[in-house]
Amino acid sequence: MKVYLRGAATTKFGELWNISPRTLVGNAVNDALTQSGLNSKDIQAIFVGNMLSGALGNQEHLGAFFAEELGMIVPAMRVEGACASGGLAMHAGVLAALSGSYENVLVVGVEKMTDYQPEEVASLLMGAGSEAEREAGATFPALYALIARAHMEKYGTTEEEMAAVSVKNHYHASLNSHAHFTSPVTIKKVLRSPVVASPLKLLDCSPISDGAAAVVISTVKPKSKKHVAIVASSVSTDTLGLSERHDLTTLQSAVRASSNAYEIAGIGPKDVDVAEVHDCFTIAEIIAMEDLGFFPRGIAGKSILEGETRIGKKLVVNISGGLKASGHPVGATGVKQIVETYQQLLGIAGPKQIQGARVGLTHNVGGSGATAVIHILALQS
Ligand code: COA
Repeated sequence: MKVYLRGAATTKFGELWNISPRTLVGNAVNDALTQSGLNSKDIQAIFVGNMLSGALGNQEHLGAFFAEELGMIVPAMRVEGACASGGLAMHAGVLAALSGSYENVLVVGVEKMTDYQPEEVASLLMGAGSEAEREAGATFPALYALIARAHMEKYGTTEEEMAAVSVKNHYHASLNSHAHFTSPVTIKKVLRSPVVASPLKLLDCSPISDGAAAVVISTVKPKSKKHVAIVASSVSTDTLGLSERHDLTTLQSAVRASSNAYEIAGIGPKDVDVAEVHDCFTIAEIIAMEDLGFFPRGIAGKSILEGETRIGKKLVVNISGGLKASGHPVGATGVKQIVETYQQLLGIAGPKQIQGARVGLTHNVGGSGATAVIHILALQS
């Protein structure tokens, strides 16, 4: 697999009430293009990751919309896979480049969510779930609360271990000026925050955010001595609804996509130095650690509580602050994970830079695990 990252950027994530999706995308693309050394005329195709622009903003047809906005009259299309829309757009862009059809491809992720009532957003997000879950009135916090209960029952996972995910990710986000939340939190503060869907509390949940991210990928090797290649891109799916699953303590889509990605890249979990994983709720990061093979089942919560995945350790997880604290504009998240990993590998991540990372992994999940997208990036020099 020979696809290189040439440029990557995100906007700030957060409540960006006075910035339109147009401006968000324009800013992210401008920064990514500048970094790539290419200009808009060099781009031959655009893939846009987005979930809710039609339902919330009444704007569909985002491929042509952003092609026009960016002044690029090229093949352009939107890719939708709920919260994995960004990762799926990335997968589509990588495959399009690998097919030989396009040399330089732009992948964009964008979502504008905070201009609307949270109840409306929560209800539209459930479009990613099953009909039965919607009819039962479930929301994503409620579905992940069921998953958390199952994990607590099977492995003895505690609310304190889940809170430790939030504490770590809020700390990492305090080093990230583009994050939605930049204040650290304590275990006590997480445990005392209002209950959303027991056992999940406010500080166990990712927020509703606005933001955009963009990357330029190319089959042409960058001239710089140090560069980043995408060495695996893999997607798997599972049932939309939780009731059809045999085991709620794992996302089998993530297990399948990651084992396929490791095989394509010719590496294993021990080779990964930095990972951006889909912590839409704190329990999701604990399960991701186990599904990706970083820790044996039932051990990840304790290891996170002991600080094993914080900045300074061999494997650093969610150095951006993750979805929990960096924010979760759903269509942008999967692309932002690539941006963060690229910056970490190249050594251009600023105050949150980790030392010596050569291999990075991104894990982007749609719904309660019906889609999982894994990318593996490697520094080459
Ligand atoms: N983490 C930390 N703080 C949060 C937060 C979060 N997830 N969500 C909101 N806040 C803060 C706000 O900044 C605000 O602080 P302030 O009073 O200092 O300004 C306060 O909490 C209340 O915010 P509000 O917007 O009224 O929260 P809410 O109760 O409407 O929504 C959630 C909170 C958790 C229900 C909402 O963020 C949510 O639904 N998250 C999950 C989104 C989701 O399901 N995504 C898909 C995943 S699969």
